[in-house]
Amino acid sequence: MNSKDSHDRWWHGAVLYQLYVRSWLDTDGDGYGDLGGVIAGLDYLSWLGVDGIWLSPTMPSPDEDWGYDVSDYLGVHPDFGTLDDMDRLIAEARRRGMRVLLDLVPNHTSSAHPWFVDAAGSRGSAHRDFYVWAGPGPDGGPPNNWLDATGSPAWSWHEPTKQYYLHNFLPSQPDLNWWEPGVHEAFTKILRFWFDRGVAGFRIDVAHGLYKDAKLRDNPAETTGNPLAGRFGQQPAYSANRPETHDVYRDWRRIADSYPAERLLLGETWVADLARLASFYGNDDQLQLAFNFPFVFADFAVPDLPDVVAGTLTRLPAGACPVWMASNHDVGRFPTRWCDGDERKIRLALLVLATLPGTMVLYYGDEIGMTDVDVPLGLQQDKMSRGGCSSRGDGNGWQGSRDRARTPMQWDGSAAAGFTRAAAPWLPIGDSTTVNVADQRDDPSSVLSLCRDLLSLRRAEFGGQLVSYQPLPAPPGGWAYRSGSLTVLANFSGRPITCQDPGKPVLLCTTGAAPAAGNAAGDIVLAPWQGIVARTAGARQRQDAASTRERGWNT
Ligand code: NOJ
Repeated sequence: MNSKDSHDRWWHGAVLYQLYVRSWLDTDGDGYGDLGGVIAGLDYLSWLGVDGIWLSPTMPSPDEDWGYDVSDYLGVHPDFGTLDDMDRLIAEARRRGMRVLLDLVPNHTSSAHPWFVDAAGSRGSAHRDFYVWAGPGPDGGPPNNWLDATGSPAWSWHEPTKQYYLHNFLPSQPDLNWWEPGVHEAFTKILRFWFDRGVAGFRIDVAHGLYKDAKLRDNPAETTGNPLAGRFGQQPAYSANRPETHDVYRDWRRIADSYPAERLLLGETWVADLARLASFYGNDDQLQLAFNFPFVFADFAVPDLPDVVAGTLTRLPAGACPVWMASNHDVGRFPTRWCDGDERKIRLALLVLATLPGTMVLYYGDEIGMTDVDVPLGLQQDKMSRGGCSSRGDGNGWQGSRDRARTPMQWDGSAAAGFTRAAAPWLPIGDSTTVNVADQRDDPSSVLSLCRDLLSLRRAEFGGQLVSYQPLPAPPGGWAYRSGSLTVLANFSGRPITCQDPGKPVLLCTTGAAPAAGNAAGDIVLAPWQGIVARTAGARQRQDAASTRERGWNT
């Protein structure tokens, strides 16, 4: 257990915002978003009530996987700007009380990274053991049965040095070998380089995957079809999910904790089992936050969602902070996935995300209810999911081209949605005439206004602390819970439901009209897909509601 005061844990009750830099705002007219655009958008994010931004990969990359194939861990992608721009962004964010998190990709590099170029030079090269090399298996083919993210063998033959190398993603993304001490040393330097510049933390890509089985044993079969349990009929029991990976996070946590303002490690923990998810928090000595994909993939229904929430909170170690998000650049946008574009459901989903205790993560555009965009095959940019499937069918849990959720931010209703002055943005733009920031910003009844109100309520009630969660009895189709001093009633059905009046005052309602009184005294009727937040009868509003943003922070 480390000795940090829990008040330093600014992510408790906070809102993080995942910003896909390439699609956020283009200030140099090349059709790609850039760091200048991120800086220009900070006032909007501050107005919205965001505490920290997580930038999708910003490091130099050949973009075979749009930045998840890093060729220099200490730089900035020239499409986005320079290191000076990054420093400016960190400073500008801090001026507004906001933290900047970067995306760190420690499972693999680009094949263009100098380490791999050197490693591929000869079997005896200095960086050879930075990667996973092996000779052919007994049948003369790949060393074992592991498959990559497209469903093809995870091994590519390297003719010049006559060995296979491992890639759990594309062949241009060779996996690093975490059994090699030099890899640990290299990443220690990378962490410190960015922390020293004022980066507040990292989202860690493929956080469950770093170590591979030392004996390279075959993966067992996976039969449940759960995208989190495996892919292409295999459980990644040996190609990922190895216990030694936890030691890496213990080391990194010591580094994170050595800074006066504790740095945040947020893992992309792609696991099906909530107990396994909990293991990434360790004894408050590993990751401080771990993405909850069982929640992401739960049906937007009761009892599915409440069951995952209860299961998560039961399994997480005491004091661990859960993470609630529902959209990202891989799985798609929740307004489509969960809500089929139905605004009533989008509003209800935002209400739930904002009122669960822990950290809430919004994906850019969630706040205006942006939906997935049908990107025609000829315009698709993502090689790993092009055509919506892989060489072995749609088995990786992404369900279609990932480009659908990476299209430009819809700032206004103009032809290029206020995103770019280039003739053509890098991906097509969704229907920005009906869904955009400009129209919603001044409309008190918009999704954006609801989201902002939710974030402001959340900051006042939860900011800087982990509140308790308690499920309450609810009629069929309903979900009711107490979160800190708030009571939430949600109707997850297409018909009205009658609930017990939670007490006054109702602080927020997803639809304009407040719930009607029921027939019996003390009852209220929630309209289909309506949700409300009330102050629990007898509960007092927090007095010390100053948010971490108002308190500011020092590095
Ligand atoms: C997870 C990232 O979110 C995804 O976009 C990427 O393709 C893979 N990891 C490989 O880095």
